[in-house]
Amino acid sequence: MESVKKLVVLSGAGMSAESGLRTFREMGGLWEEYDVYEVASPEGWEKDRELVLRFYNDRRKQLQDALPNRGHFALAEMEKDFDVAIVTQNVDDLHERAGSSKILHLHGELKKSQSTVDPDLVYDIEGWELNPGDLCDKGSQLRPHIVWFGEAVPAIEAAAAVVSEADILVIIGTSMNVYPAAGLINYARRGTPVYLIDPNEVVVAGHSGITVIRKGASEGVDELIRMIRDE
Ligand code: APR
Repeated sequence: MESVKKLVVLSGAGMSAESGLRTFREMGGLWEEYDVYEVASPEGWEKDRELVLRFYNDRRKQLQDALPNRGHFALAEMEKDFDVAIVTQNVDDLHERAGSSKILHLHGELKKSQSTVDPDLVYDIEGWELNPGDLCDKGSQLRPHIVWFGEAVPAIEAAAAVVSEADILVIIGTSMNVYPAAGLINYARRGTPVYLIDPNEVVVAGHSGITVIRKGASEGVDELIRMIRDE
């Protein structure tokens, strides 16, 4: 009995594009409309907490109307044949809602809040709003449970360990622009097959031999499954 292969997925905003959630760096992306440092950095939080809370409330409201797409569901179905681990830069819960069982959120979770005096105090957000005056058990204002630019990525060591055990690495829907997430590919063991699913060209510095599937997530994962099965 051959042991089950570990398939590790590194997903980004493009994974959720077909679910209607905007990516960041494309035409019409979120960073075209908002100054990232005003809404996704500790400095922005200190400068205008209400603007930051409104930005994430808007995204949480959109998430309420979004559904996992075929790509999310296909990855969940792959758990029948592989030991699948999802390492995602996304803060939505669409991988969870599609049924994936092992998910690591590198950049936090939109539907959670955290204390501003004790980051270990993390709460589920009921509904879509986190407002001024919503306090933690220690009486401090709650903030989005999101890793902002300039903040440490607590889950990066765990994510690197997961990638280092991968028998297959699949990169889906990320422009590989943001570190340390983009550097995770370097933890894959030499010779590990790497697939990249994206409708646009993505430059992965220092890595040749990547199998590119130039498609969106839904069609791309189905093609990935066919390619792996035919190997
Ligand atoms: N299917 C798959 N990929 C897609 C699709 C699709 N339907 N549509 C677009 N893409 C691709 C784009 O071509 C792009 O390569 O998704 C990628 C999105 O890249 P970004 O917008 O840069 O998103 P991401 O890489 O996840 O950003 C990383 O930056 O803004 C911060 O913390 C935020 O987690 C985010 C991080």
